[in-house]
Parts: sequence; structure tokens; C-alpha cells
Amino acid sequence: MARIVLSIGGSVLVPGDKDAEYIADLAALLGKLSSRHKLFVVTGGGKVARYYIENGRELGMTEPQLDELGIIATRMNARLLCGALHGLSNAIPPETVEGAASIESKHRIVVMGGTSPGWTTDFVAASLAESVKAERLVNATSVDGVYTADPKKDRKAKMLSKMTYDELIALSGSGHRKAGPSVVFDPQAARLVAKAGIPLLVVNGRDLEALRSSIEGKRFHGTTVQEV
Ligand code: UTP
Repeated sequence: MARIVLSIGGSVLVPGDKDAEYIADLAALLGKLSSRHKLFVVTGGGKVARYYIENGRELGMTEPQLDELGIIATRMNARLLCGALHGLSNAIPPETVEGAASIESKHRIVVMGGTSPGWTTDFVAASLAESVKAERLVNATSVDGVYTADPKKDRKAKMLSKMTYDELIALSGSGHRKAGPSVVFDPQAARLVAKAGIPLLVVNGRDLEALRSSIEGKRFHGTTVQEV
């Protein structure tokens, strides 16, 4: 069975827009796909993480402490998805990549959040993809794919349907420096999948048709990142 890792942003899972309805639909889709694919899902922290990180920073907490708050939010989101999967996945998110890989045979779908301070959930997903030798890594985000600039700020931004890892890294900047929100895909995570030769597919997670096609390895609306 092909192993697929899905990194799903908190901005997709819980933006505050019919979240329970969306998560139920997502869980139904993942449930169906899990009969033909081994799925590993890593959930992001989104605005819940941001809320705690911003307030904690104002209160003078250290960056590792703020990261810990972010990790708790990613694990809460993981539990929400586990709940919607009604027994198809583990109930409690594993706290390490090794832990997630080790329960593969016990569950149709393995769901986890972050691991330790200094990372992003994109990086956790890339490490997991490398560890389980995933066929591809799907990054479900809040935009349709990778753009030449931030499409929410620049109306001239264009979506690229194909690009190389180096092009993605050049667009994304330096990676996780401090707790809080990041770019479309963490460049450190991009370096890891590039090294492992794992294709990265960037897709709008709220577009379940695009998400389904990307997981199945069919043509999809979004961006494919791989070596040319
Ligand atoms: P995310 O990686 O989800 O960041 O983790 P994000 O940019 O908010 O992602 P979206 O919006 O969900 O797509 C939230 C924060 O939790 C900490 C980091 O501070 C990160 O910014 N974190 C997360 C860690 O320190 N380690 C982890 O393994 C995961």
C-alpha cells in the first residue's frame, strides 16, 4: 500500500468557517482513501497556536516555551481530527515521528501534531515522510498552491503548477526562526523532502476534490514540487 503523508495547516482545519462541517467531510474522504492508501496526517496549529504564542510573547515567555504552546495547539487539532475519524485512527497523537511510524500497523490512519520546540508541523511531516518512505507529501494549505508572491497581498501573484525544490526554497526565505506562523511550506522541510527525493504536492485543503486527487496521485489543481 502506498504511504502518503498529509500536512494539514491549522488555517485549513480551524479557521472559524464551518470547521466541524469541513472536518467531518475531510474525515469521510480520508476514511475512503485509507482503504487504498496508508495515510499519515500531521495537523498544524493555526490561529489557536498564534493566539497563545502572541499573548505568551507579550508576557515575556521564552521562544521554546512559546513553541510548546504552539505544539499543544497542534495536538488539540490532531485530537479533533481523530475524533471525527471515529476509530479509523489512533485516539491520542504520538509525540514523536518514531512513535507515529511505530503504530502504522495498528491504525488505518495515523494522526499527529508537532513534536518538539524549534520545528514546524511541515518539518514534522517531512521527517515522517522520510521515515516511512512515503511516496509523496501533500501539503494542504489555505491557498490553491505556490504563488510567485503572497496572493492575499499581491493581486499580480501567479500560481505555479510545477516547480523545483530550489525554486520553492528561494521563495520561502529562511525557515523557522521564532514561534508563530510561517510561509506556504517551511523551507527546512522542503530541503528534507528534496534530499529524500519525495515529491511535494501543495493544494488548497478546503478544496476536497483537489485534495483527493493529490493524495491519489492523479492530476490536481495545485503545485507539484520535484526535481525536473
Ligand atoms: P505550525 O507548524 O502549525 O505553524 O505550528 P503554523 O505556521 O501556525 O501552521 P498553520 O497555520 O497551522 O499552517 C505552530 C507553532 O507551534 C510550534 C512553532 O512555534 C509553530 O510556529 N511548533 C510546532 C514547534 O515548535 N514544533 C513542532 O514540531 C510543531
